[in-house]
Amino acid sequence: MKLRAGEPGWTVQADVIVIGSGVAGLTTALNLRAGGLSVLLVTKSHIDEGSTKWAQGGIAAALGPGDTPGQHKKDTLIAGAGLCDTDAVDVLVSEGPEAVRRLIARGAVFDKSETGEIALTREGGHLRNRILHAGGDATGAEVSRALLAAVQNDAGIEVIEHALAIDALLSETGSVCGVTLHVIGAGSRDGVGRALARAVVIATGGLGQVYSQTTNPSVSTGDGVALALRAGAAVADVEFIQFHPTVLWRDSSTGGQQPLISEAVRGEGALLLNHRGERFMVGKHPLAELAPRDIVAKEIFSQIKESGSQHVWLDATAIKDFRERFPTIYSSCKANGIDPTSQLIPVSPASHYASGGVLVDLNGQTTVPGLYACGETACTGAHGANRLASNSLLEGLVFGARISTHILAHLPDQSQPSANQGSDFLLSPTIELPLQLAMSQGAGVMRSENSLKETLSVLQQLSEYTTTEPSLEAWEASNLYLLATAIVQAALVRTESRGSHWRTDFPDTSDQWHKRIIQNLDRTGKWHSSTEEVK
Ligand code: FAD
Ligand code: SIN
Repeated sequence: MKLRAGEPGWTVQADVIVIGSGVAGLTTALNLRAGGLSVLLVTKSHIDEGSTKWAQGGIAAALGPGDTPGQHKKDTLIAGAGLCDTDAVDVLVSEGPEAVRRLIARGAVFDKSETGEIALTREGGHLRNRILHAGGDATGAEVSRALLAAVQNDAGIEVIEHALAIDALLSETGSVCGVTLHVIGAGSRDGVGRALARAVVIATGGLGQVYSQTTNPSVSTGDGVALALRAGAAVADVEFIQFHPTVLWRDSSTGGQQPLISEAVRGEGALLLNHRGERFMVGKHPLAELAPRDIVAKEIFSQIKESGSQHVWLDATAIKDFRERFPTIYSSCKANGIDPTSQLIPVSPASHYASGGVLVDLNGQTTVPGLYACGETACTGAHGANRLASNSLLEGLVFGARISTHILAHLPDQSQPSANQGSDFLLSPTIELPLQLAMSQGAGVMRSENSLKETLSVLQQLSEYTTTEPSLEAWEASNLYLLATAIVQAALVRTESRGSHWRTDFPDTSDQWHKRIIQNLDRTGKWHSSTEEVK
């Protein structure tokens, strides 16, 4: 199965293609180059677009006095609500500190305490101060800056911007041997082309744009997960969409990317208040405002429903030096008419992170030979049913390095694309907004059989809106449609509440559901679903 697109008019080749220029793609590309391979890095928009540069809170790693990978593991497993793959968590927390040191060696500069040590803060679900941050609340921008500088200094990494990866190219044996791309460029590489390689790494980030309000930038349309599905790869845990509890509430009609108010603001002492001005997290969880974010999001959602108001309040007025510690958040509040040093900040949950994605092993291999996935696109199992704050940048660093090591040791010869890449389809860009609204309405923070069935029926209606005219918007809308379908299908099957999946009709966690839901598409476009016990 593939998306409808024109015939490729040009060809390019490298040892490895990396799709995406966030923390995961850049780290993988740099490590592959260090091993001497030629790398083609393609990215859909400007090279610095993606979630990475927006990351605020920081990177979690057991680097502080009294902290250990074991303690980090414990906190990760608790947030993951029983569904983490413990081997993947072990890899994440034990290889994390070294991965962060490598990032520092590549030029990333983190904030220091008064004594000159790296300053470590806390976020929801962490029982130790272990979050490194940069520029106060501009951690992602610094990570992106440092990695981009290293990539741009390496002549062995060819970068093509404004290059949207459409589909994987499959060989006769079903292995991936390249991708089709659409490039908005000049000269010989313009329009649809094909890039051939001995291995392909998808690092296309998240899928927040499946919902009408999200912290994710506009490029986060889950293209890589959809591409992997069409190539026959399995996806897992896609029902676990994390809703960030504290996103600046502006107006319920404002769609797309919304400004985040980092959990680190609560880490520095900000309190959540309901419409009566009362703290509502006390007594709900021992960590109160710093409970894992699924718990905080659910409580906020309940408060909003109960009171009929559209948001709750965050009181950050007691934080000294707010402006210096959180310059990005200060500016976005001010731009929206709020002075967080003297006024309460209106906040509500919005879609933030996909804990699931393309199913991979500990070396980032998907279920299709030659295809790897890294970062938010991948499901390593490290996040289980709910990711612990600041474990995502870390995952990109750790697994980007592991994937490179694996590719360097197992790179096959170049194979050629089969003449038959399967049948194609394409949906009209007009489905995007109704799809997002239906997903927010029926498959958001709280779901039920009724709401999910209604959403599925809207999706079925939207699937009738096909088009014969390929465009960026149509490819993205078609990808959003596949992902929305996968999310709703899995959310219907999981008849329990766990982590960030909350079913109002099944409010309890069930031992029967200590399983992950795995889905894939066959060559005819038919969905298959199975479950697997979590170790
Ligand atoms: P991204 O950084 O999203 O990069 C994906 C790349 O793929 C982009 O370059 C994009 O343009 C490209 N792309 C997408 N589709 C295609 C295509 N079809 N063809 C070619 N290229 C494509 N995590 C933390 O650990 N700590 C934090 O403090 C934190 N704060 C966050 C704050 C915000 C506002 C947001 C949105 C997320 C935050 N997260 C945080 C999550 C974290 O930032 C992301 O999960 C992480 O950066 C993902 O990295 P990535 O490399 O997988 O994807
Ligand atoms: C935040 O700063 O609150 C976001 C952290 C994360 O998503 O890990």
